[in-house]
Amino acid sequence: MFMNFWYVAELSENVQDTPVHVRMLGFDYVLFRDSGGQAHCLSNLCVHRGASLAHGKVKGDNIECPYHGWQFKGDDGLCTKIPSLGPDAKIPARAKVDSYPVQEKYGLVFAFLGDLPEAERPPIMDLPEYGQDGWRVTTQVYEWTANFQRAVENTLDPAHTEFVHPSMGYQGDRDDYHVPDFEVLEEAWGCGTMTTFVSPDLPDSKMKGLKGEGEMEAGAGNHGPSSAWTKLHFGPHAWAHQYGFSTPVDEKTLKRYFLQARNFRANPEMDATINERNTAVMMQDKVVIERVEPFYTPQYSTEEVLVKSDGVITRYREFIQDWESRGWRIDSAKVGELREEKSFAIPSPARRNTKSWAIEAAPVTQPGIATKAAAE
Ligand code: FES
Ligand SMILES: [Fe+2]
Repeated sequence: MFMNFWYVAELSENVQDTPVHVRMLGFDYVLFRDSGGQAHCLSNLCVHRGASLAHGKVKGDNIECPYHGWQFKGDDGLCTKIPSLGPDAKIPARAKVDSYPVQEKYGLVFAFLGDLPEAERPPIMDLPEYGQDGWRVTTQVYEWTANFQRAVENTLDPAHTEFVHPSMGYQGDRDDYHVPDFEVLEEAWGCGTMTTFVSPDLPDSKMKGLKGEGEMEAGAGNHGPSSAWTKLHFGPHAWAHQYGFSTPVDEKTLKRYFLQARNFRANPEMDATINERNTAVMMQDKVVIERVEPFYTPQYSTEEVLVKSDGVITRYREFIQDWESRGWRIDSAKVGELREEKSFAIPSPARRNTKSWAIEAAPVTQPGIATKAAAE
């Protein structure tokens, strides 16, 4: 899993004036809204003696720890009150928790889990249709028992649709089936492709006639390690653009915030039908991906047999390698090994400016070592 990207922490509607406990990238956080309605995301572990802040209370702009009542401010994580020392307490410099930048967009609370300064942060994946006339956006949340990389590779894969999704493919029964040659589209934080293929009419009676049997254009791409988009063009005027903001809860669990923008049947009364169809399609992927082995994408692609139609996946793996070489990949094995003896936190931007933190920054992998082992 990678630090230094924006991740969806929660649906905006679920973050109100009581603290919310969330887990992302294998670490715990507390989310809450301050007196002005601004959402905050702090590392959940109280630096006094380790209690869970999310099980405390919101007091004005602060979160109060349930153990000894220390308070921490939402915007900078600094301790503002140590009740046991009385009203004139001198607050130690180390009495602070990591506070992560927050943005609310598309009805989602995003937290930037990393220490990059603002100008260097990879942006949140854009959803240009949101709020536009003629488009309807629905939001669904799914949980998968899968590693984020396996899940994104599934989304990027132009060759699985024919076999995994009966409403968009013929399970290979057409003699002329093949994935056409495609170009890998390059963006700053990801890659993707669009291809044209023949597919059946949509089977659901309420969707019938939307496209008819024939050609459709579809494609997908990633944005950062765990977000991905899919574009389905059933016909010239019936498009579904889907945005999967997936947050790794840990290496083995993925929370998928799935936003679909559609420009057909865009009345809210159609939401239930469309969402039901989306869930069915999502389940078709889920049952395959939750069974792949090994659980993680192998470290070396020689341990699989990749072919031309896996081209986007190959390119995505290069992005993953690049982000790892920047020192952004969390060493989850080490965190897990030490879990009961030592706590870590994803470093927040404030760590670039101030020293003295009680909790050590999460260890990151050392890609140079793995690459060297492969070469030998
Ligand atoms: S552990 Fe939080 S105040 Fe003591
Ligand atoms: Fe799929």
